[in-house]
Amino acid sequence: MIDTLKITNLHVNVAGKEILKGVNLEIKRGETHALMGPNGSGKSTLGLAIMGHPNYEVTQGSIELNGENLLEMEADGRARAGIFMAFQRPIAIPGVKLADFLRHATTNVRNPDRKEGEELIPMREFRKEIREKMEQLKIDPEFARRYVNDGFSGGEMKRAEILQLAMLQPKFAVLDETDSGLDADAVMLASQSIAEIGRQRIGLLIITHHDKLLEHNRPDFTHVMLGGRIVETGGVELAAELHAKGYDRIRKTYPEADAVNQAMLEEETATAGT
Ligand SMILES: Nc1ncnc2c1ncn2[C@@H]1O[C@H](COP(=O)(O)OP(=O)(O)O)[C@@H](O)[C@H]1O
Ligand SMILES: [Mg+2]
Repeated sequence: MIDTLKITNLHVNVAGKEILKGVNLEIKRGETHALMGPNGSGKSTLGLAIMGHPNYEVTQGSIELNGENLLEMEADGRARAGIFMAFQRPIAIPGVKLADFLRHATTNVRNPDRKEGEELIPMREFRKEIREKMEQLKIDPEFARRYVNDGFSGGEMKRAEILQLAMLQPKFAVLDETDSGLDADAVMLASQSIAEIGRQRIGLLIITHHDKLLEHNRPDFTHVMLGGRIVETGGVELAAELHAKGYDRIRKTYPEADAVNQAMLEEETATAGT
């Protein structure tokens, strides 16, 4: 059986306000899905809800991994079940070296039944593996000695994220791309690295505005989000159309969703101003 992540009629509230209004999405391991849509349409919210971020309250619907209810698991349980998310704004952990962080994370994901305080992956084994992965991804070995995301450039954060993805070998990964702050080289590196890790072994949900990322990781499906719903699903040609022409056609075709999107954005701007 192919591992399947299934999202059905998902409604999500943030700060008491409904942001996702019935999202349906099914991803099989080995497929690449692009999630696109204008600002404020709910893309990051969907990613965070999949990961189990405590501020994202699911009020209706379900998220299942091979028929098992993910909503009953905390964020760390979901990570152990094989779900990975790269955050749009990763947190820094000063004082914790990337290598130590990855050794803990990798141990937890590989030994789901491990109790607190039990052995980590043996150092020798872990070192060998991380060295191989860094070589494969053309990452300077010194990089693993840096503190997690502490003073990292956008490109370095991306590199740390890719290394984490390569080490954890999740079943499903949500990659939420920054809209800015990444130069073309960093995007290129990230794209090639994902291809290198072997996208055929991961179910990928890529939230992106960069066509470079999708060039190297050709989406099998493209979904367009507007006003908290997926309004249209297509293939790689839909991603190409949106890159070339923007969202005007989508907004005109789905005026109700567009009105909802505008209202959410205005509310956000109003709150930000207070
Ligand atoms: N932490 C938050 N607090 C309050 N509102 C939020 C928060 N995160 C998201 N929102 C609301 O959810 C809407 C969707 O945001 P988001 O999922 O970040 O969209 P996207 O990633 O598509 O740009 C925004 O318009 C905003 O109103
Ligand atoms: Mg976002």
